[in-house]
Amino acid sequence: MPNEKLIELREKSEKIELGGGQKAIQKQHSGGKLTARERVLMLLDESSFVEIDEFVEHRCVNFGMENKKAPGEGVITGYGTIDGRLVYVFAQDFTVIGGSLGEMHAAKIVKAQQMALKVGAPIIGINDSGGARIQEGVDALSGYGKIFYNNTISSGVIPQISVILGPCAGGAVYSPALTDFIFMVQKTSKMFITGPQVIETVTGEKVSAEKLGGAMTHNSVSGVAQFVDDTEEACMANIRKLISFLPQNNLETTPVVEVNDNINRIDEALNEIIPDNPNKAYDMKDVIYTLADNKEFLEYQPYFAKNIITGFMRLNGRSVGVIASQPKVLAGCLDINASDKSSRFIRTCDAFNIPILTLMDVPGFLPGTHQEYGGIIRHGAKMLYAYSEATVPKITVITRKAYGGSYLAMCSKELGADMVLAWPTAEIAVMGPDGAANIIFKKEIEESEDKIAKRSEKIAEYRNTVANPYIAAARGYIDGVIEPADTRKRIISSFDMLLGKRELRPEKKHGNIPL
Ligand code: HXC
Repeated sequence: MPNEKLIELREKSEKIELGGGQKAIQKQHSGGKLTARERVLMLLDESSFVEIDEFVEHRCVNFGMENKKAPGEGVITGYGTIDGRLVYVFAQDFTVIGGSLGEMHAAKIVKAQQMALKVGAPIIGINDSGGARIQEGVDALSGYGKIFYNNTISSGVIPQISVILGPCAGGAVYSPALTDFIFMVQKTSKMFITGPQVIETVTGEKVSAEKLGGAMTHNSVSGVAQFVDDTEEACMANIRKLISFLPQNNLETTPVVEVNDNINRIDEALNEIIPDNPNKAYDMKDVIYTLADNKEFLEYQPYFAKNIITGFMRLNGRSVGVIASQPKVLAGCLDINASDKSSRFIRTCDAFNIPILTLMDVPGFLPGTHQEYGGIIRHGAKMLYAYSEATVPKITVITRKAYGGSYLAMCSKELGADMVLAWPTAEIAVMGPDGAANIIFKKEIEESEDKIAKRSEKIAEYRNTVANPYIAAARGYIDGVIEPADTRKRIISSFDMLLGKRELRPEKKHGNIPL
């Protein structure tokens, strides 16, 4: 081959690899951000990244664009591995026309999406962009539309992960919103439909970009994002960790990891964890960490709806999705946000063949006009729907309270739990003893001389008679009452027993989950 051909190729590649050039790279670095290429290389296994479409160019001739070069079209796409497993990636390059998205930029992303879907590999999209490339007009909008469509078609087939490492504004936010997981980084990430200036112009409201759409806003207030990190480096490490819990696609099971933890471990501390006073809280995270292989737990949405805990652990080396009441926050009541958070998580687990462990200590749905007007009926219904719909193995452990509708909503036997185990401290009843005594012994309490003493006596009577696990166990609504210390051993044995579970449902186009 003539030498000049090789030189031409190398020169072209080098130019493209430099993105928007040294000055723009410096600007990116001085803003505390890595470049798109640095991000991809940090995310993937060393030397595994293979770039595709690096020579793609835009075709825009409006507003001087005919003379404007856009190396790589402002987005890097390709594939590589994480812990040796194939993933597809795209990373918008802010150093090239602000990472703005035009026709060909979108085409590169769409090609990566379609390839990932075709081979059944997860796709990770790094967003850092000024949005639709203004010069390209409707071509840019059409590009977004195609990305949204492919996000939707891939949903439930391959895991889709979005990483927000810069601006992501306007309609552009809907690609991440259609994916399974959104990662954000403190100070770097911004997501909003309309920015602070538009808001001020239209409503007069003043708000900073950080407060409006920063990482903590979406991780703790809006519930749009699920993960937040302090640095891009920590974010990439967390994405790799998440990938380790996921299968490649909906037809595969999750990887089995070799863990050096005892599957027959007896955790005596769990026998002491429930306080004597049923109104006293304890930290359900202590239970989760105690049960997990090597005490490892990757929490999903740790800052949103803290009254319910969601996340991934391993049991005997296999991924398990955990949904757990948190008695420390709102007494573990279910509310709108907790319902949304857990329903989404349940469906994510079910789509990707991840068995579900539910730890229940739930006194009920949160009362109040705010909840009723906000539609707790339709939000709560999502939980019932998601649990009933899920066909992965489902195990429920009732640690303490299991009252009324919330007992059913937290994966009771009736919603298809394959195994329901209760601790001796479980109280399975229509409502809490205090409320129940007030209603059914109302007359007796009112007519007694010492109302306070009578009330306490009746509450105790109700608790001793009804609020225990043995009535439910006698009817087979639960499968057993176990010592808390034995929980790990029992749930591992149950999940192992359920490995061959196959459950078919009537054929339909799709269900109609309440939204
Ligand atoms: C074309 C853009 C661009 C865009 C940025 N640039 N956004 N070019 N279209 N959308 C260019 C800038 O002109 C500049 O080019 C370079 O990228 C870097 O941008 P700066 O403004 O210098 O960077 P910074 O100061 O960091 O500000 C970043 C920014 C700002 C806040 C994102 O660029 C900005 O407000 N951009 C416009 C955002 C926007 O309104 N986008 C359209 C949203 S509507 P030079 O040549 O000077 O280096 C939308 C609809 C999607 O996206 C609908 C989907 C359904």
